[in-house]
Amino acid sequence: MSLYRPPAPHPTGPVRGLLRAMMKGERDLLSLMPEPAYTTRVGRLGRSRRGIVLVNEPSAVVQVMTDTEQNYPKNDLMVGALEGVVGQSMFVASGPPWRRQRRMIEPAFTHMRVNRAFEAMAAGIDAYQTVLDSHAVSGAGFSLDAAMSALTADIICRTIFSQSLASQTARDVFASFGQFERSVANTEIRRLLFGKPFAKIPQSAPVREACARIRGHIADLLAPRMAEGAASIDDIVGAVIAARDPETGEGFTPEELIDQIGVFFLAGHETTASVLTWCFYILSQNLDLAARLRAEVGEGEVDLERTKHLTLTRNIFREAMRLYPPITFIPRVALRQTEIAGVPVEPGCMVMIAPWTIHRSPNNWPNPDRFDPDRFTGEITPGSYIPFGYGPRVCVGAAFATIESTLILARLATRYDFTPLHPTGVRPVARLTTKPAEEVMVQVKRR
Ligand code: HEM
Repeated sequence: MSLYRPPAPHPTGPVRGLLRAMMKGERDLLSLMPEPAYTTRVGRLGRSRRGIVLVNEPSAVVQVMTDTEQNYPKNDLMVGALEGVVGQSMFVASGPPWRRQRRMIEPAFTHMRVNRAFEAMAAGIDAYQTVLDSHAVSGAGFSLDAAMSALTADIICRTIFSQSLASQTARDVFASFGQFERSVANTEIRRLLFGKPFAKIPQSAPVREACARIRGHIADLLAPRMAEGAASIDDIVGAVIAARDPETGEGFTPEELIDQIGVFFLAGHETTASVLTWCFYILSQNLDLAARLRAEVGEGEVDLERTKHLTLTRNIFREAMRLYPPITFIPRVALRQTEIAGVPVEPGCMVMIAPWTIHRSPNNWPNPDRFDPDRFTGEITPGSYIPFGYGPRVCVGAAFATIESTLILARLATRYDFTPLHPTGVRPVARLTTKPAEEVMVQVKRR
């Protein structure tokens, strides 16, 4: 069993955490998590204008996440945070509008099946190795976070649009998403603590600007395809352009197309990029584990069949998602008076499903702060591990992201050593995704 403990949070009291988040402008939701948030099974969290019930008990997590229609739809705060960038699309909608969109988009999902998408993944990695090789020759330091974002953005672009992504666009999406996350978290912290349930607060200018830049890039990628018509290429964008409402026969409007493609694009790469950043950082600090990974991968081409059987490599990805779940919080809102594990929940209450605390609760995981990929060789209790969510709203890209990340780890960790320039200062923060507080600057060497 591995004894390695990668960077863990330092829980603060709610008041200190709140002051730090508000005054120092850290915009970090983890600093609002007091010590009991990790040990509570189901209970009230802090003081705020609207009640917050934190749910860490796996059976209660399952109860809430399977009841997304009647009682616990997507939380209005999360919807408010994301709608500037992805509108009222499939990720944020609830109830009948969500079901309508899911039915329309269903044909696009076949393009995310791993046997179809594997070629795009391998091509993206081939192309990115050229960039890494030149970093290895020059010895220049670079941001691991930005590198993982560029690589995964290119792969998702090849999968959605059947074309690679210009590196300048990848850089701008990374910078804009960073700006979006930092600023939106600040607004949401205020709304959470002081706002009435369902009250709207306009987003700040930096959030609006970042959203406009990201949407502009997606509109640019979409424009030629809309001009050509849906049928020109059989891929995700073709399927979404061709989608029709079964009742009205209507397709998506141009704005709705940006919303839906925006979800695939952002949910499909920022998440994977954040967990891969953690994986490569952890491997750089845990050389025995890196050696075990390389021994498992061995020599020769890593095709789809081999990727599927790289158990340790996949478990490193899974364990990194346990400790640093890319989507830190997946909150719901109570529509009516209910009860969760005996705790009364009033209408408008935020029902906080936080992979962050569920995955680090000592009630759910022994030695929760240790990085031990081998824990995934045993049984996992349903509701105790939910990086991809659970129930009807579970991630549609889970299989895609798992194969993609396993392949990236297998190929890049056997070819390169990534060495952080400041290995001791790395600490996690949560905005919308769980990231290192500062970008991890690394040098890379060919093995
Ligand atoms: C490590 C990578 C990923 C993680 C951790 C992740 C996580 C999640 C989570 C937690 C949800 C559910 C949110 C909720 O219940 O409120 C979700 C939904 C979703 N994800 Fe992912 N995701 C990943 C990769 C992907 C990829 C690669 C794609 C697309 C190619 C994707 C597309 C979506 C979509 C479309 C939804 C909304 C599904 C619905 O509500 O109908 N995700 N994801």
